[in-house]
Amino acid sequence: MKVTKAVIPAAGFGTRMLPWSKSVPKEMLPIVDKPAIQYIIEEAVASGIEDVLIITGRGKSALDDYFDYSPELESKLSLSGKLSDLEEVRGSADIANIFYVRQKEMKGLGHAIWRAKAFVGNSPFAVLLPDDIMMADKPVIKQLIEAAEKYNASAVGTQKVSLDVISKYSSLKVSALEDRVFKVSDMNEKPTPAEAFSEYAILGRYVLTPEIFELLANTQPGYGGEIQLTDGLNALCKQSDMVAVDFEGKRYDAGNLQGYLETMVDFALRDSNVGDWFRDFIGGKV
Ligand code: UTP
Repeated sequence: MKVTKAVIPAAGFGTRMLPWSKSVPKEMLPIVDKPAIQYIIEEAVASGIEDVLIITGRGKSALDDYFDYSPELESKLSLSGKLSDLEEVRGSADIANIFYVRQKEMKGLGHAIWRAKAFVGNSPFAVLLPDDIMMADKPVIKQLIEAAEKYNASAVGTQKVSLDVISKYSSLKVSALEDRVFKVSDMNEKPTPAEAFSEYAILGRYVLTPEIFELLANTQPGYGGEIQLTDGLNALCKQSDMVAVDFEGKRYDAGNLQGYLETMVDFALRDSNVGDWFRDFIGGKV
């Protein structure tokens, strides 16, 4: 199994980040000096991904502009000798083969992924949710790809969360296969603590087989009236092998204000340009 394609669903409204997400795609929000989606694509590329499909929607054209060439800007930077800026600007446009498809109606994450059917074809593919920014030595999606290859299975990223917050996630029913890798036999979306199968929550990274498309096509609207990816995954784990990878690394939810601030602070503290200054600045405040 070789995984060279990734899908990034980015059509959602971002209601947890209003009012500014009304006209700015939340995937373009800066984390230090790069938009969030660039971290996601860098993680994919560092994991062997060559082709990336971004599922967009109305009001998201800043995403395709960002990954395009910008001839006037590039010529100005070149003429004024700002070569490292030029390299950065070009680098983001050449980062991968990027494709786009619109989700014309916001019918949920499962529906957004279903829109990737023609792009994906017959091979397993990665899915990365752009709200979930990872800080990890080994790219998280690479950890999943390796497990999917080893077990010839689909894979979901997981970590334990406390039962108090499990209702924000999908909970997994798992049995251990090896250190950090589990077999998945069931799952439920946004359960109450009493309904949860375990504290293992699905967190924003997946390797899926194309079987998922037929399952999603037959998935009825579920939680919140949306076509839920979890419902398709639940059917998938019952008809073929699925593993859960308790990945190494820290996951940030940059799709809500508190999580975004945590992401910004932690990444700024580690940044080679502003990290030392920022540590002193923050230290002076607390
Ligand atoms: P979320 O529900 O977490 O994100 O969807 P959202 O809808 O953008 O934000 P809130 O909850 O209103 O603040 C998870 C991922 O699925 C994508 C979102 O863009 C996000 O990356 N998504 C969701 C779609 O692409 N289409 C949809 O119809 C729903």
